[in-house]
Amino acid sequence: MSRRTIVAMPGDGIGKTVLDETIRVLDAAGFEADYVEGDIGWEFWCNEGNPLPQRTLDLIEKHKIGLFGAITSKPKDEAFNELKPELQEKGLVYSSPIVGLRQHFGLDICLRPCRTYKGNPLNFIRRGQGDVIEEPEVDVAIFRQNTEGLYGGVEWSDPPEHVYDALMTHPKFSKNFGWSPKEDISVSTRIFSKKFTERILRAAFEHAKKYGYKSVTVCEKPNVIRETSGMMYKMAQQIQKADYPNIELWNTNIDAQMMWLTKNPENYGVIVAGNMFGDIVSDGFAGLIGGLGFACSAQYNPETGIGVFEPTHGSAPKYADYPVSIVNPIAMMESACMMLDFIDEQEIAKKIRKAIAEVVEEGKVRTYDMAKMPGRADVVDNGAASTEEMTDAIITKL
Ligand code: NAI
Ligand code: MG
Repeated sequence: MSRRTIVAMPGDGIGKTVLDETIRVLDAAGFEADYVEGDIGWEFWCNEGNPLPQRTLDLIEKHKIGLFGAITSKPKDEAFNELKPELQEKGLVYSSPIVGLRQHFGLDICLRPCRTYKGNPLNFIRRGQGDVIEEPEVDVAIFRQNTEGLYGGVEWSDPPEHVYDALMTHPKFSKNFGWSPKEDISVSTRIFSKKFTERILRAAFEHAKKYGYKSVTVCEKPNVIRETSGMMYKMAQQIQKADYPNIELWNTNIDAQMMWLTKNPENYGVIVAGNMFGDIVSDGFAGLIGGLGFACSAQYNPETGIGVFEPTHGSAPKYADYPVSIVNPIAMMESACMMLDFIDEQEIAKKIRKAIAEVVEEGKVRTYDMAKMPGRADVVDNGAASTEEMTDAIITKL
């Protein structure tokens, strides 16, 4: 097997720490790779006026595989104020580099698995019959369409005349919004294309088939959002009937799903949704298996083979300043395992997952979140493991 080159994009805050620690684990597990650093994040916005420089895009284009930590984003006014004075005249507008990455490379498939680790004190529990405490095992794979829908960026406040006129031709718009002055109207669109809807659906069914899940659930709201959600569900029915007759197709509404996931999370297998509902439902399930310290993700383009792997959490700036890092690196390490699966290094991924599972189950080494402490700088003095100690424990198991 030839040596891989991975574009390592630490980003900001704790992104840097968890990525460094993850590379230690990858090395210890015997993954042979060179890492080139990709610049991304707040520092590059402030100094260059671009949080996602072209040189980083070039690196990803060349090497195809990226490991990403986390970035800091701030509101419009703060973004402007922190820009270098000589750049402030240039009319630059900040936009999230991670959304930029997804759009630039068309990373339309986002996979967020949520799997219970045995012995994780953060696992969801519920009261069963006769008041027994049950700890249902969660094993879901959420496929989120990553480039379209409500996060597609097609939106206006005080829309241009021609857009407004076009909207006024829709009877519901003229009836329900026609009374408002145009300048007081904001519009965010939710556009689904057949091509990318089919791609996310097929990715979900393929995953179910490959890993033996019995059902695929479309989690949208087709009874109300008839066109987009309706299209996704209808296409799912066609795909299931034609190509995956042995996999059950279920249909849930996002609102009801958020209620059911604390009632019977063990019933679900693969879940597929548009961009925003996928974002919501994946955070919901992540809460059942340990929250941000455990929530990992892959995003990729099946045509180009470009993939970027990242934890769901952000840069947690407050924690980045602690003298000893306290955050849980497992979400980043799990994301790296997804990268390994993607590039056909499943054996190494398996080894790392096993080592993590052993440390979690043993319960001797727990970061502050697992120890249920408030995230203060003194948690390590009070018995929680530091980020580094957690990594060391995992490496020892390897
Ligand atoms: P966050 O995810 O950075 O932190 C929220 C809280 O979650 C933290 O205060 C901490 O209590 C906990 N947490 C996060 N990661 C953890 C870990 N690995 N181990 C243990 N606990 C952990 O979200 P927040 O505070 O809303 O945003 C901070 C910055 O990150 C913002 O600038 C935001 O825009 C950005 N962000 C970036 C994301 C990305 O890079 N993909 C995603 C979410 C937020
Ligand atoms: Mg989210």
